[in-house]
Amino acid sequence: MSIIRDIVAREILDSRGHPALEADVLVQDAAGVEFRGRAAVPSGASTGRREALELRDGDPARYQKRGLLKAVANIRETILPALGGMDVFDQALIDERMCEIDGSPNKSVLGANAILAVSLACAKAAAEVEGLPLYRSLARHGSDDRSPESRGDSEGDSESAGTASNPKTMPVPMMNVLNGGAHADNPLDIQEFMIVPVAAADLREAVRCGAEVFQTLKAALTQRGLTTAVGDEGGFAPALASSQEAIELILEAIEQAGYAAGSDVHLALDVAASEFYEEGRYHLRGEGRILDAGEFAAWLENLAKNYPIVSIEDGMAEDDKEGWGILSNRLGDRIQLVGDDLFVTCPATIARGIEEGIANSVLIKLNQIGTLSETLKAIETARSGGYTVIISHRSGETEDTVIADLAVATAAGQIKTGSLSRSDRVAKYNRLIRIEEDLAKAEGAYYPRMAAFAPRGALEMR
Ligand code: PGA
Ligand code: ZN
Repeated sequence: MSIIRDIVAREILDSRGHPALEADVLVQDAAGVEFRGRAAVPSGASTGRREALELRDGDPARYQKRGLLKAVANIRETILPALGGMDVFDQALIDERMCEIDGSPNKSVLGANAILAVSLACAKAAAEVEGLPLYRSLARHGSDDRSPESRGDSEGDSESAGTASNPKTMPVPMMNVLNGGAHADNPLDIQEFMIVPVAAADLREAVRCGAEVFQTLKAALTQRGLTTAVGDEGGFAPALASSQEAIELILEAIEQAGYAAGSDVHLALDVAASEFYEEGRYHLRGEGRILDAGEFAAWLENLAKNYPIVSIEDGMAEDDKEGWGILSNRLGDRIQLVGDDLFVTCPATIARGIEEGIANSVLIKLNQIGTLSETLKAIETARSGGYTVIISHRSGETEDTVIADLAVATAAGQIKTGSLSRSDRVAKYNRLIRIEEDLAKAEGAYYPRMAAFAPRGALEMR
C-alpha cells in the first residue's frame, strides 16, 4: 500500500497568463518513504458547451474573475479528507470517490479542474512509487482491461502496434502551424491549420519535418510582408483573406522545405464550427458567406477534394446533429472526421455518436471530462466502435506533459499538441522524443504513419 498523506493545491499561470490549477499529491509507501506526484490542468478557449465545469472564482478583484481559490479550497477541505489514507494505486476508486462527493453531472460542485488535478497527480505519484516513467505506469495501471491480450502476453505480440501494458506506438502529431478562429485576432474562420508528417521514419523525424516546415512558412510570411506573430497554440496568425489562401501557403512551405505535400506531409483542419454557428447557419466572416449545413458540408468536401486533407475536426457545430449526419455521409468513408465539442470526451456521448454513425474519430481532452479513469473509458468506448482517437492539449496549456505519456500509454496513434514554437507546446514534443529514445533501448518504438488514420482495428492488425 502507498497511502495518500497530503494534497497541496495552488494557482500557477497557464500559457495565456491566466491562472491554472496545480496539485501535489504526497504519498508514503509501506517502508515510510515519501513520494510526490504533481499535475496541472489546462484550459480551453473554444470550449464545448457540454464540457465538465472549470470552476473559477468570479471575483473581479482577482485575476479578472479567473482566480482559482475556490478550487484550491475544495481540494484542501473536501477532497483531501475524502482521499487521505487511500492507496494511490486505486485510481478508479479515487476517481469514483471524487465524482461521488461532487454528485453533479458535470463536476460543478468541486470543479472538474480540482478533480482532474488530483486524479492526475495520483497517477504521477503512483509512477514515482513504482520508479517507472509515467507512460509505462499508466499503461500498467491505467487500463480496465486486464486480459492477457491487453497485457501483451499473447504470441506474436512484438508484431502488434503495442498493447495496454506494453506500449510502443508513438503518436503521429497534428501540428497547428497556422491559427485562426477563437485562437487568433485574424479574419480566418477555420481555427487550426495543421501539418501531419505521415511518412516520417519515427517521431523524432516527424518533429524535424514539422519544425522545418514551420521555419519555411515563417520566411514565406515575412517575404509577403505578413506578420509572424503567433497565436495561442504557437502557430502563425497572419491576416490572410481566405482558408484556401492559408492552405496554399502551407502547401508551398511544405514543398520549399523539401517535402512532398500529399505524400510526406498531409494537412488536418480543426474547423471549430460551433464558434460560428448561429441560428442554424454557418457564418463564414472571413469569406463573407452564410451557409446552411448542406452548403457548408459541400464547402468542406470541396476543400478535401482539392487539398491533401486527412482529418477534419468539428466540421459541424456541436448542436447540429443533422449537419453532422450530412458531413459523415459525404466524407466519412474517405477522411477522418473528429468530434471535439461534439463528444467532449464523454463515454456516453461517444457511445451515442457511434450508434448514430456520426464522425469516425474522437478528440480526447482530459479536462473535458475531469478524471483519468473516465478519459480511459472514453478512449476504450471510441475504439470499441472502430473510431480513432487523438490525445489533445488545450489552447491554454502549462508545462505539464502528461498528454505525451497518455498518448503512448494508450497507443492512441495520434496527438494534437500545437505548433513548433512556445515551450507550452514543444514541451510535449520534447517529452515524446525522450519517450521514443527510451523505447528504442527496450522493446523498440513504432511510428504508425498513415496507419494511424485507419480505423482502430486496422492499426492493431498492421
Ligand atoms: P480549445 O481549442 O482548447 O480552445 O478548446 C482546442 C481545440 O478546439 O481543439
Ligand atoms: Zn477542436
